[in-house]
Amino acid sequence: MKTIFYRISRNRSSDSEAIEKAGDIIRTGGLVALPTETVYGLGASAYSPQAAEKIYAAKGRPSDNPLIVHVSEPESAERVAHTSDLFYNLARSFMPGPLTVILPKKSCIPNEVTGGLDTVAVRCPSNEIARRIIEASGVPVAAPSANSSGKPSPTTASHVLHDLDGKIDMIVDGGDCEIGVESTVISISGDKCRILRPGAVSADQLGMVCGEVEVDEAVIDPSLAGDHPKSPGMKYRHYSPEANIILVDGGREKFIDYVNGNAGENDGVFTDRNTAEQFSCKTLVTGERGTADEFTHNLYALLRCADELSLKNVYVQLPPSSDKYLALYNRIIRAAGGNIVRL
Ligand code: TXA
Ligand code: MG
Repeated sequence: MKTIFYRISRNRSSDSEAIEKAGDIIRTGGLVALPTETVYGLGASAYSPQAAEKIYAAKGRPSDNPLIVHVSEPESAERVAHTSDLFYNLARSFMPGPLTVILPKKSCIPNEVTGGLDTVAVRCPSNEIARRIIEASGVPVAAPSANSSGKPSPTTASHVLHDLDGKIDMIVDGGDCEIGVESTVISISGDKCRILRPGAVSADQLGMVCGEVEVDEAVIDPSLAGDHPKSPGMKYRHYSPEANIILVDGGREKFIDYVNGNAGENDGVFTDRNTAEQFSCKTLVTGERGTADEFTHNLYALLRCADELSLKNVYVQLPPSSDKYLALYNRIIRAAGGNIVRL
């Protein structure tokens, strides 16, 4: 299959044609990679079981891992799910934006999209190009991250091209994703919510709308997800580069000494800009010191970079698991697959 690659630069009249084209492809059962504020998504009609199968095939993803359904306005959630007061309270504060809410599904959404569950994950992205494409398609859009299964999610169109060229109909390039990790996924019941996957919408923020916010134990320790996790995505080893990620839990000075004492020629380290020159091995710069957002934004590109450099081991200092760092912490421990050295 020949993949159409189209770069959108705002205010060009031909962009409307590209958006219409992307919408047509989705409506008629094809696959389009599109930018969102979190990561690039691989969009297809959420009404089509065949299109869902195509997504699983293109990504090489197990078909019991359900897809998020994207809508262009929060009210369109009604088309796919049974909503509630709490859903609309959350929507008023966080939608459009990086929040996904699990709701009871309506029968128009096929089992192929939800991995056989009777619930559906609903999200209204804030990225303008994404919303225009969803609107142009006229259907709700099922979209997982547009990476090969198991690889870091794509935060640029060239990441998508690398993983999916020749396997999908179109890639719409809308530039770098602002946030860099996937949306916060929550389940709700009454006035309570539970975080199944942490993202840019934090527990503290959710607490301003929900009566109670719980963080699922598998967010902190993925090994607790077991065989029947609340969010099937939790059980897969995700976000992994080929390189071996070695997490080091200890203060900065100890971390520097440990890396300099252990890293070989083909090894690298994630470091803030200020500390980079203290390492003797290859350095991959995460941003300024102490900036969780900048590190989060750069994380997946850096994991891909580690592979381009054919690094064998990459040393990463374990970030805190506090609210501000929780999304980063969760992605890094999963990329490391439990490989933690405690100093
Ligand atoms: O930011 C995002 O959410 C991106 C962009 C493209 O929107 N999408 C994304 O989709 O990350 P995906 O498929 O890579 O991750 C979906 C996550 C998985 O962990 C899946 O298990 C969970 O959401 N999920 C989907 N439907 C669910 C459901 N009905 N119940 C529980 N978890 C669900
Ligand atoms: Mg994904």
